[in-house]
Formats: sequence, C-alpha cells, structure tokens
Amino acid sequence: MEINFKDRDIISITDFCRDEIFYLCKKAKKMHDLEKNNERDGLLNELKNKALAYMFYEPSTRTKTSFITAMRQLGGSWDGFSGIEGTSVMKKETIRDTVMMMEANHFDVIVMRHPLGGSLQWAADVASIPVINGGDGENEHPTQSLLDIFTLYLLSDENLDGISIGFGGDLSHGRTIRSLSLALSCFKDITIRWAAEDFLGMPEDLVELLKSRGVSVIREKSVEDVMSRVQFYYMTRPQLERMGGITQKDVMEMMKKYRIDLKKVKESNVKLMHPLPVNSEIAEIDYEVYFDKSQAFFQQAENGVFLRKALLYEMLKGVESVQFSGKLNPLLEYGNNRLKRIIKENAKEGRKFIDNITNGTVVDHLLPGTEQKIVAELDLMNRGSSSIPAHLPKSGKSFLKTDLPELNERELKKITLISPEDTINYIKDGKVADKFVYLLCKNTNCVTRVVNEDIPPKFYEDSGTIRCRYCRKSYSITSKKVSQKEKEEFINSLPEGIEQIKFHA
Ligand code: CP
Repeated sequence: MEINFKDRDIISITDFCRDEIFYLCKKAKKMHDLEKNNERDGLLNELKNKALAYMFYEPSTRTKTSFITAMRQLGGSWDGFSGIEGTSVMKKETIRDTVMMMEANHFDVIVMRHPLGGSLQWAADVASIPVINGGDGENEHPTQSLLDIFTLYLLSDENLDGISIGFGGDLSHGRTIRSLSLALSCFKDITIRWAAEDFLGMPEDLVELLKSRGVSVIREKSVEDVMSRVQFYYMTRPQLERMGGITQKDVMEMMKKYRIDLKKVKESNVKLMHPLPVNSEIAEIDYEVYFDKSQAFFQQAENGVFLRKALLYEMLKGVESVQFSGKLNPLLEYGNNRLKRIIKENAKEGRKFIDNITNGTVVDHLLPGTEQKIVAELDLMNRGSSSIPAHLPKSGKSFLKTDLPELNERELKKITLISPEDTINYIKDGKVADKFVYLLCKNTNCVTRVVNEDIPPKFYEDSGTIRCRYCRKSYSITSKKVSQKEKEEFINSLPEGIEQIKFHA
C-alpha cells in the first residue's frame, strides 16, 4: 500500500490505518534519533518556504507549542491566534471566513482547535490547504493519540499488538480517550480496562464501536483492579469546561477513589501516561507521582514534537504552494439533510385545518406549544408575513401556516432547533409542491447547530447508520410520521463515508 500524507486533512484518527500509523511512528523515531544524536539542525531547510497557521479558539500549551516547535525546527514559519480575543471572531466572523483569511495570507497548512465537535471537518471542507485537527470539542484529538501511540511504540520495542492499557479520570467528556482507544483498535489483541463513576465513565457508543473493531473493553470495580492487570495506565483530566452545571467540588468527590497517588503506583507495575495538563486543584495525579521520572508524561510531551515534525514533513515536503482563489466551493452551499416525504396525490396541505392557503409554507407536526416560539424566533409578526400558529387540542396537532413562499437555511435551522423533525410543506397554487423533514444533527455540541455559522447539515451512511458528516455522531430518525419507505429512500441517497470536498479553482 502506498502511504502518502500530502494534501491530506488530519481530522479523525479513524481515517488512519495500521500501516499509516506504523509509518508515522517510524518517521517520528527518525526525528527522535536525530534529536538524541544532536543532529536536529540538519533539518533546518526542509520546510524553508512553508508556513503554518494556528487557529486556537480554545486554550492550549502543548499542542500549539509543539506544532510551532516542529515548524521552527524544519525551517518553516508560523503565525495565528490563541484565544479569540483580539480576532474578528469577536465581531461574529464565522469559522469559514476565518479559514479563508488564513488562505488569503498564503499559509500552507492550518492547525486548529475549537470547542465544537465537527468544526474541524468543516474547516477542512472550506480550505484548499490541508487542515489538522488540534482538538474539536469532545470529539477528537488525532495528533494527541498519534503521539500517545508513538510513546507506546517506543515503550513496547516498536510493537503495538497485544497492549493492555487502563483508562482513568474523565473518560466521558474528553477527546483523548476517544481518539487513543480508536487508534489502538487498529492493532491486534488490545485490552482496555477502566474504572470510574458512571458520570465519568466510557460512553456506551464508544465501547460498542471498540468492541466491533475487536478490542476487549472491560469495566473493573476499582483503579487498583485496573492497575494490577495492565501494562500502561492512561490518566486524564476531568474536563470541567464540558460538564455543564457540575462544579469542581462535585468532581473532586467523584474522583476521590480514582486519583492516582504514590501508594497505588507502588502496589502496581504500570507505566503511567497522561496527555496533560493536570488540574492542580483536583490533582488527578498526585504531584509525588507526577514528578516521578520513570513515568511517561514528559516523554509524551516531547514525543509530540517528534511526531508533529514527522507529520508536517510528510504533509508539506515538496508540495507546491496553493494559490489563493478567493472562491468558495459551491458544493458547500448545500446540505443533503432534506428527507423527502412522499406527496400524496391531490394533497392540499393548506386546506386541511383552520383555513386555506394557496401559496406559502405549512410547518406541520410541530412539538405541541412550539408554534408561538417559532413565530417569535423567525420574527414573523414584524416581517409583514401573514402567519397562523395553531394548536388543536383535540388532535394534539401543532402547526404553523405562513405566506412565506419558502424558508431559508437559517430559518429552517431555527425551527428545527425548537422542534426537531417537523415536516415542511411548500404550497404552490393550492397544491403541495415540496414536502420534507429538515434533519439537524442531534449532538448539542455539533458545529452544524450554530445558526450563524451557516453550515448546511450533511450526512453519510455507515453500514446502515446515518452519521453527521461533521461530528460523525449517529442519527436515528425518530419521527413516527416518516414511513419506512421514506427513511430507506433517504438513507439510499446518502454517500457511503466521508467524501472529499476539495476545490482548487
Ligand atoms: N495534551 C494537550 O492537548 O495539551 P494542550 O491542551 O496544552 O494542548
């Protein structure tokens, strides 16, 4: 198999296969050896005219710095932002427009971190230059998992099969556990053991996915049980910033039994890992353990430089600079989320209830009580639109009629956020001309749900499961109004897997 990282986006670890991960580990080992042999400067011309843009909407020390270090040591340059203050994101500039500005400034590659899941796939769709995911919400952090895997590779005599690893800390809200466990699933005979309170436990969908990829995932009663049965123990920081109303005090209570202290370490034989940072107040790893040089934490951090150096080299070496076109790929303007409903012959949706409309829109099958909210959200009363929101208690039907001939994407999204899976009917000359359900990803952290980002929702089909193109979470159609035939037709219309939307005009 030919391995080539040129012009490739690095969005999800599931886009890598076993051979590619081994290949990158070997390349990172070369970077490691050059460093240890004091030969680092020999690389100083490799990416001489290449430039890295960093776009960090969320804080970072290691990821951002190690990408910059990698670029510096390969002779390239870098610029960008850490935190949105001081950028035009404060003036409501979208992700799409900010990415375009990086291209207009002639960067060759973007590394980006963003709090919303799926934001990196969107950035990659927009950009003509390669995009690297530096962490998207709770979703993924693929280069962290690559550096973790590289650390395991070095610690296991360059063999990644048969590894047993324990997971601790926050297995639910962090992205490193998801990406690392999926990376490990590329190898044979992998066992993951974990112990945590339910709230911080491994998500069921992830466990199912790992099992389907041949990984043994075992929940143990205690950290001690885990640590006595594995070679490596991967501890993680409770991601307070992604826990909604939960306080640090609540988390400290939940973590009491699960913190890693010297006693636990002395009673076991494990090598400890942690993506860092450690929360110094919760101290999920006791500081006596943290500064124990035999553990792998700092090695992981340095390995991040070697791995990212290898990755940037593979992606950019010998690649021609992309000319800025200033054009946006027209394919990005359209989603594939309109589930077409079958229009019954002579259907005259506008006539059925309350009154008749000849031309306009009927939003039907609304959640009861949402019709007034939609009128307010769409500002229908102040727009001179004739609109009738209605709830019929007897039938339980809620719907909205308006003389607006069609709704735009923002309007459809606003309605769907309030009342998912309603049916939109466009009425022309007294007949239903179009009838569809506008599907919107149900992951509340998904970037496609942010109305003013203007991201048309897109889905793909993955072995019978509908997945959001952006955050890749599964979607199940719950509306009883949608028939099996309509569902099947929709699923059959979707692409199989993520398709490239590259556009170099
Ligand atoms: N491990 C990691 O991603 O660290 P930063 O948040 O400091 O980048």
